[in-house]
Amino acid sequence: MTQQNYGVDEAVHSHEIYDVINSFDYDIPFWLEQARNANGPVMELCCGTGRITVPLAKYEIPIVGADCSQNMLDGFKKRCARENVFPRSILADMRNFDIPERFSLIFVPFNSFQCLYSLTDIEAALACIRRHLSPTGRFILDVFNPSIEIMVDRFREEQENETLNVPAKGVVRWKEKCRYDAAAQVNRVTWTFIFRDGKKEIQRLDMRCFYPQELLVLLKANGFIIENFYGGYDCSQFRSESSKQILICRPG
Ligand SMILES: C[S@@+](CC[C@H](N)C(=O)[O-])C[C@H]1O[C@@H](n2cnc3c(N)ncnc32)[C@H](O)[C@@H]1O
Repeated sequence: MTQQNYGVDEAVHSHEIYDVINSFDYDIPFWLEQARNANGPVMELCCGTGRITVPLAKYEIPIVGADCSQNMLDGFKKRCARENVFPRSILADMRNFDIPERFSLIFVPFNSFQCLYSLTDIEAALACIRRHLSPTGRFILDVFNPSIEIMVDRFREEQENETLNVPAKGVVRWKEKCRYDAAAQVNRVTWTFIFRDGKKEIQRLDMRCFYPQELLVLLKANGFIIENFYGGYDCSQFRSESSKQILICRPG
């Protein structure tokens, strides 16, 4: 099987656009509870603009945010200044960071793990996370439960999403098209942004799908014991219809 060049283009993970598209906070109570239960230092891996890290820091959780995008971390700093709370952030790739601290909780929220495409990268990230956990620490993985129906439905035609009001860019039209690569389990999302002056920008958002039975094997094979498998931020048990796969793991 040939490995394609999967990835996420710059504008998708640029803080100006990201924060307009992702202003929700319905997952924060879940992460706050998990962080409180951890009772020690916490790392949000793939923290982006601090949508979760900053509110948790406001609740006095000793939290560090890590992300591989300097642009997103610039957004993180701006959010800290707005909220007047200053958790540490580090520029780090989840596949190969190396810092001296060990954490009571490391979590990779909001599907960010789906930005890893090859088994080599996935296993490198799991090894790296495991290395940075304290012996009694927890790792929480949060990815979509892949819905074949949604992917097939979107495959049919391009759809136009609600317009975005992006600071400094004004109103931006935003279209979305998807195509599923079954061999690699990658949902290839293409976003087209159309700016006021008519200029278009085409952006890739490739998302690796993880299937439930695959995750059980993957986590076990990489030294994790799964304590709970939730289907949503309400801590309901994972079922076929669940929209999310949230796995609470400890090092085995
Ligand atoms: C969907 S955003 C999530 C941001 C934030 N956690 C949230 O919930 O709003 C995904 C983030 O993962 C980061 N990311 C992608 N691949 C990464 C990698 N290999 N290492 C570290 N961060 C990565 C991106 O830069 C982006 O900020």
